[in-house]
Amino acid sequence: MGASEIQVTPIGLGCWQFAKGQGVGGWFWGVLDQDTTDAIVQASLDAGVNWFDTAEAYGDGASEASLASALRTAGKKDGDVVVATKWRPNMRTAGSIGRTIDDRLHYLDGFSIDLHQVHNPVGILSTHSQQMDGMADLVRAGKIRTVGISNFTERQMRRCHGVLASRELPLVSNQVHYSLLHRNIEGNGTLEAAKELGITIIAYSPLAQGLLTGKYHDDPARIRTRPGPRRWMPGFHRKGLRKSAPVIAELRRVAASHGATPAQVALQWLVRFHGDVVVAIPGASKVSHAQSNATCLDFELSDEELHLLDVVSKPLSGLS
Ligand SMILES: NC(=O)c1ccc[n+]([C@@H]2O[C@H](COP(=O)([O-])OP(=O)(O)OC[C@H]3O[C@@H](n4cnc5c(N)ncnc54)[C@H](OP(=O)(O)O)[C@@H]3O)[C@@H](O)[C@H]2O)c1
Repeated sequence: MGASEIQVTPIGLGCWQFAKGQGVGGWFWGVLDQDTTDAIVQASLDAGVNWFDTAEAYGDGASEASLASALRTAGKKDGDVVVATKWRPNMRTAGSIGRTIDDRLHYLDGFSIDLHQVHNPVGILSTHSQQMDGMADLVRAGKIRTVGISNFTERQMRRCHGVLASRELPLVSNQVHYSLLHRNIEGNGTLEAAKELGITIIAYSPLAQGLLTGKYHDDPARIRTRPGPRRWMPGFHRKGLRKSAPVIAELRRVAASHGATPAQVALQWLVRFHGDVVVAIPGASKVSHAQSNATCLDFELSDEELHLLDVVSKPLSGLS
């Protein structure tokens, strides 16, 4: 992970789905019971996944607590896995980073915070420099191991990197929206700057929230059976599905030749195309999702296949 000593597998598990319908972000997914969550975490561990991404915003502690409980059920103890969480900056001063850290640790119930991230750059009551100083203070106090950001632009990322460097700490990651259907970080300087500065890109929504599985192309009505607001998002409507159809067709063609699924191909492309600068955190609402996503590197895409997927997906993100 960035310039830190932390080693993560190319695929982690996104834990937004564990928010239990609570808090600011909890309304997005359905409510998973703890048995299902336990099984999703166990399946991920069984397939070799060694890290988990959660956040305060995922249910105000519900996702963190649910993850910790599942890890304990799986027999894991602190240090066996890598845990990343996030501080929610909205309408808060940077002082809240220090004031809320014990809440994070309380919900994580004995699991340390290997990576603490500022969830988004829109906080208006504190500057990014103040936020990085708040995070650096936590590293120095031994409350967290490393610092990351999320949804930050290239310019914002460079500034955070500089502030932490002045405290002799690395900025290890920027967690951003990145998938074959959303390749904006390749065109706006974020990816290049991350490579230059040794910052890991953590790709969130790497399956475009389910679109890259092809199941909503097969059955567009299916989205109406799913909880949350995806049914109102343009990508899931007929026009959006038509737009992404060429990418899905290519994923299917490539997947068939490997006995794999389109989702596995999409994930492998993401964590291989740019070398090891990108890691991905697919979320899962079923055990089978976690199993399938975590084994996306069990086969190997050829250079030609990586290239064809690059070419077919570029136009959707306005890349030439
Ligand atoms: N930092 C941020 O601002 C931010 C923003 C978003 C997400 N994240 C993080 O990134 C993680 C992943 O992003 P995401 O959850 O938005 O999107 P995603 O990983 O692209 O999609 C997850 C959803 O796709 C479907 N799915 C996943 N694997 C599947 C499979 N193998 N077969 C069929 N369907 C499958 C499931 O939903 P259905 O079965 O309902 O289709 C699942 O809930 C989150 O859990 C969170 O940790 C961070």
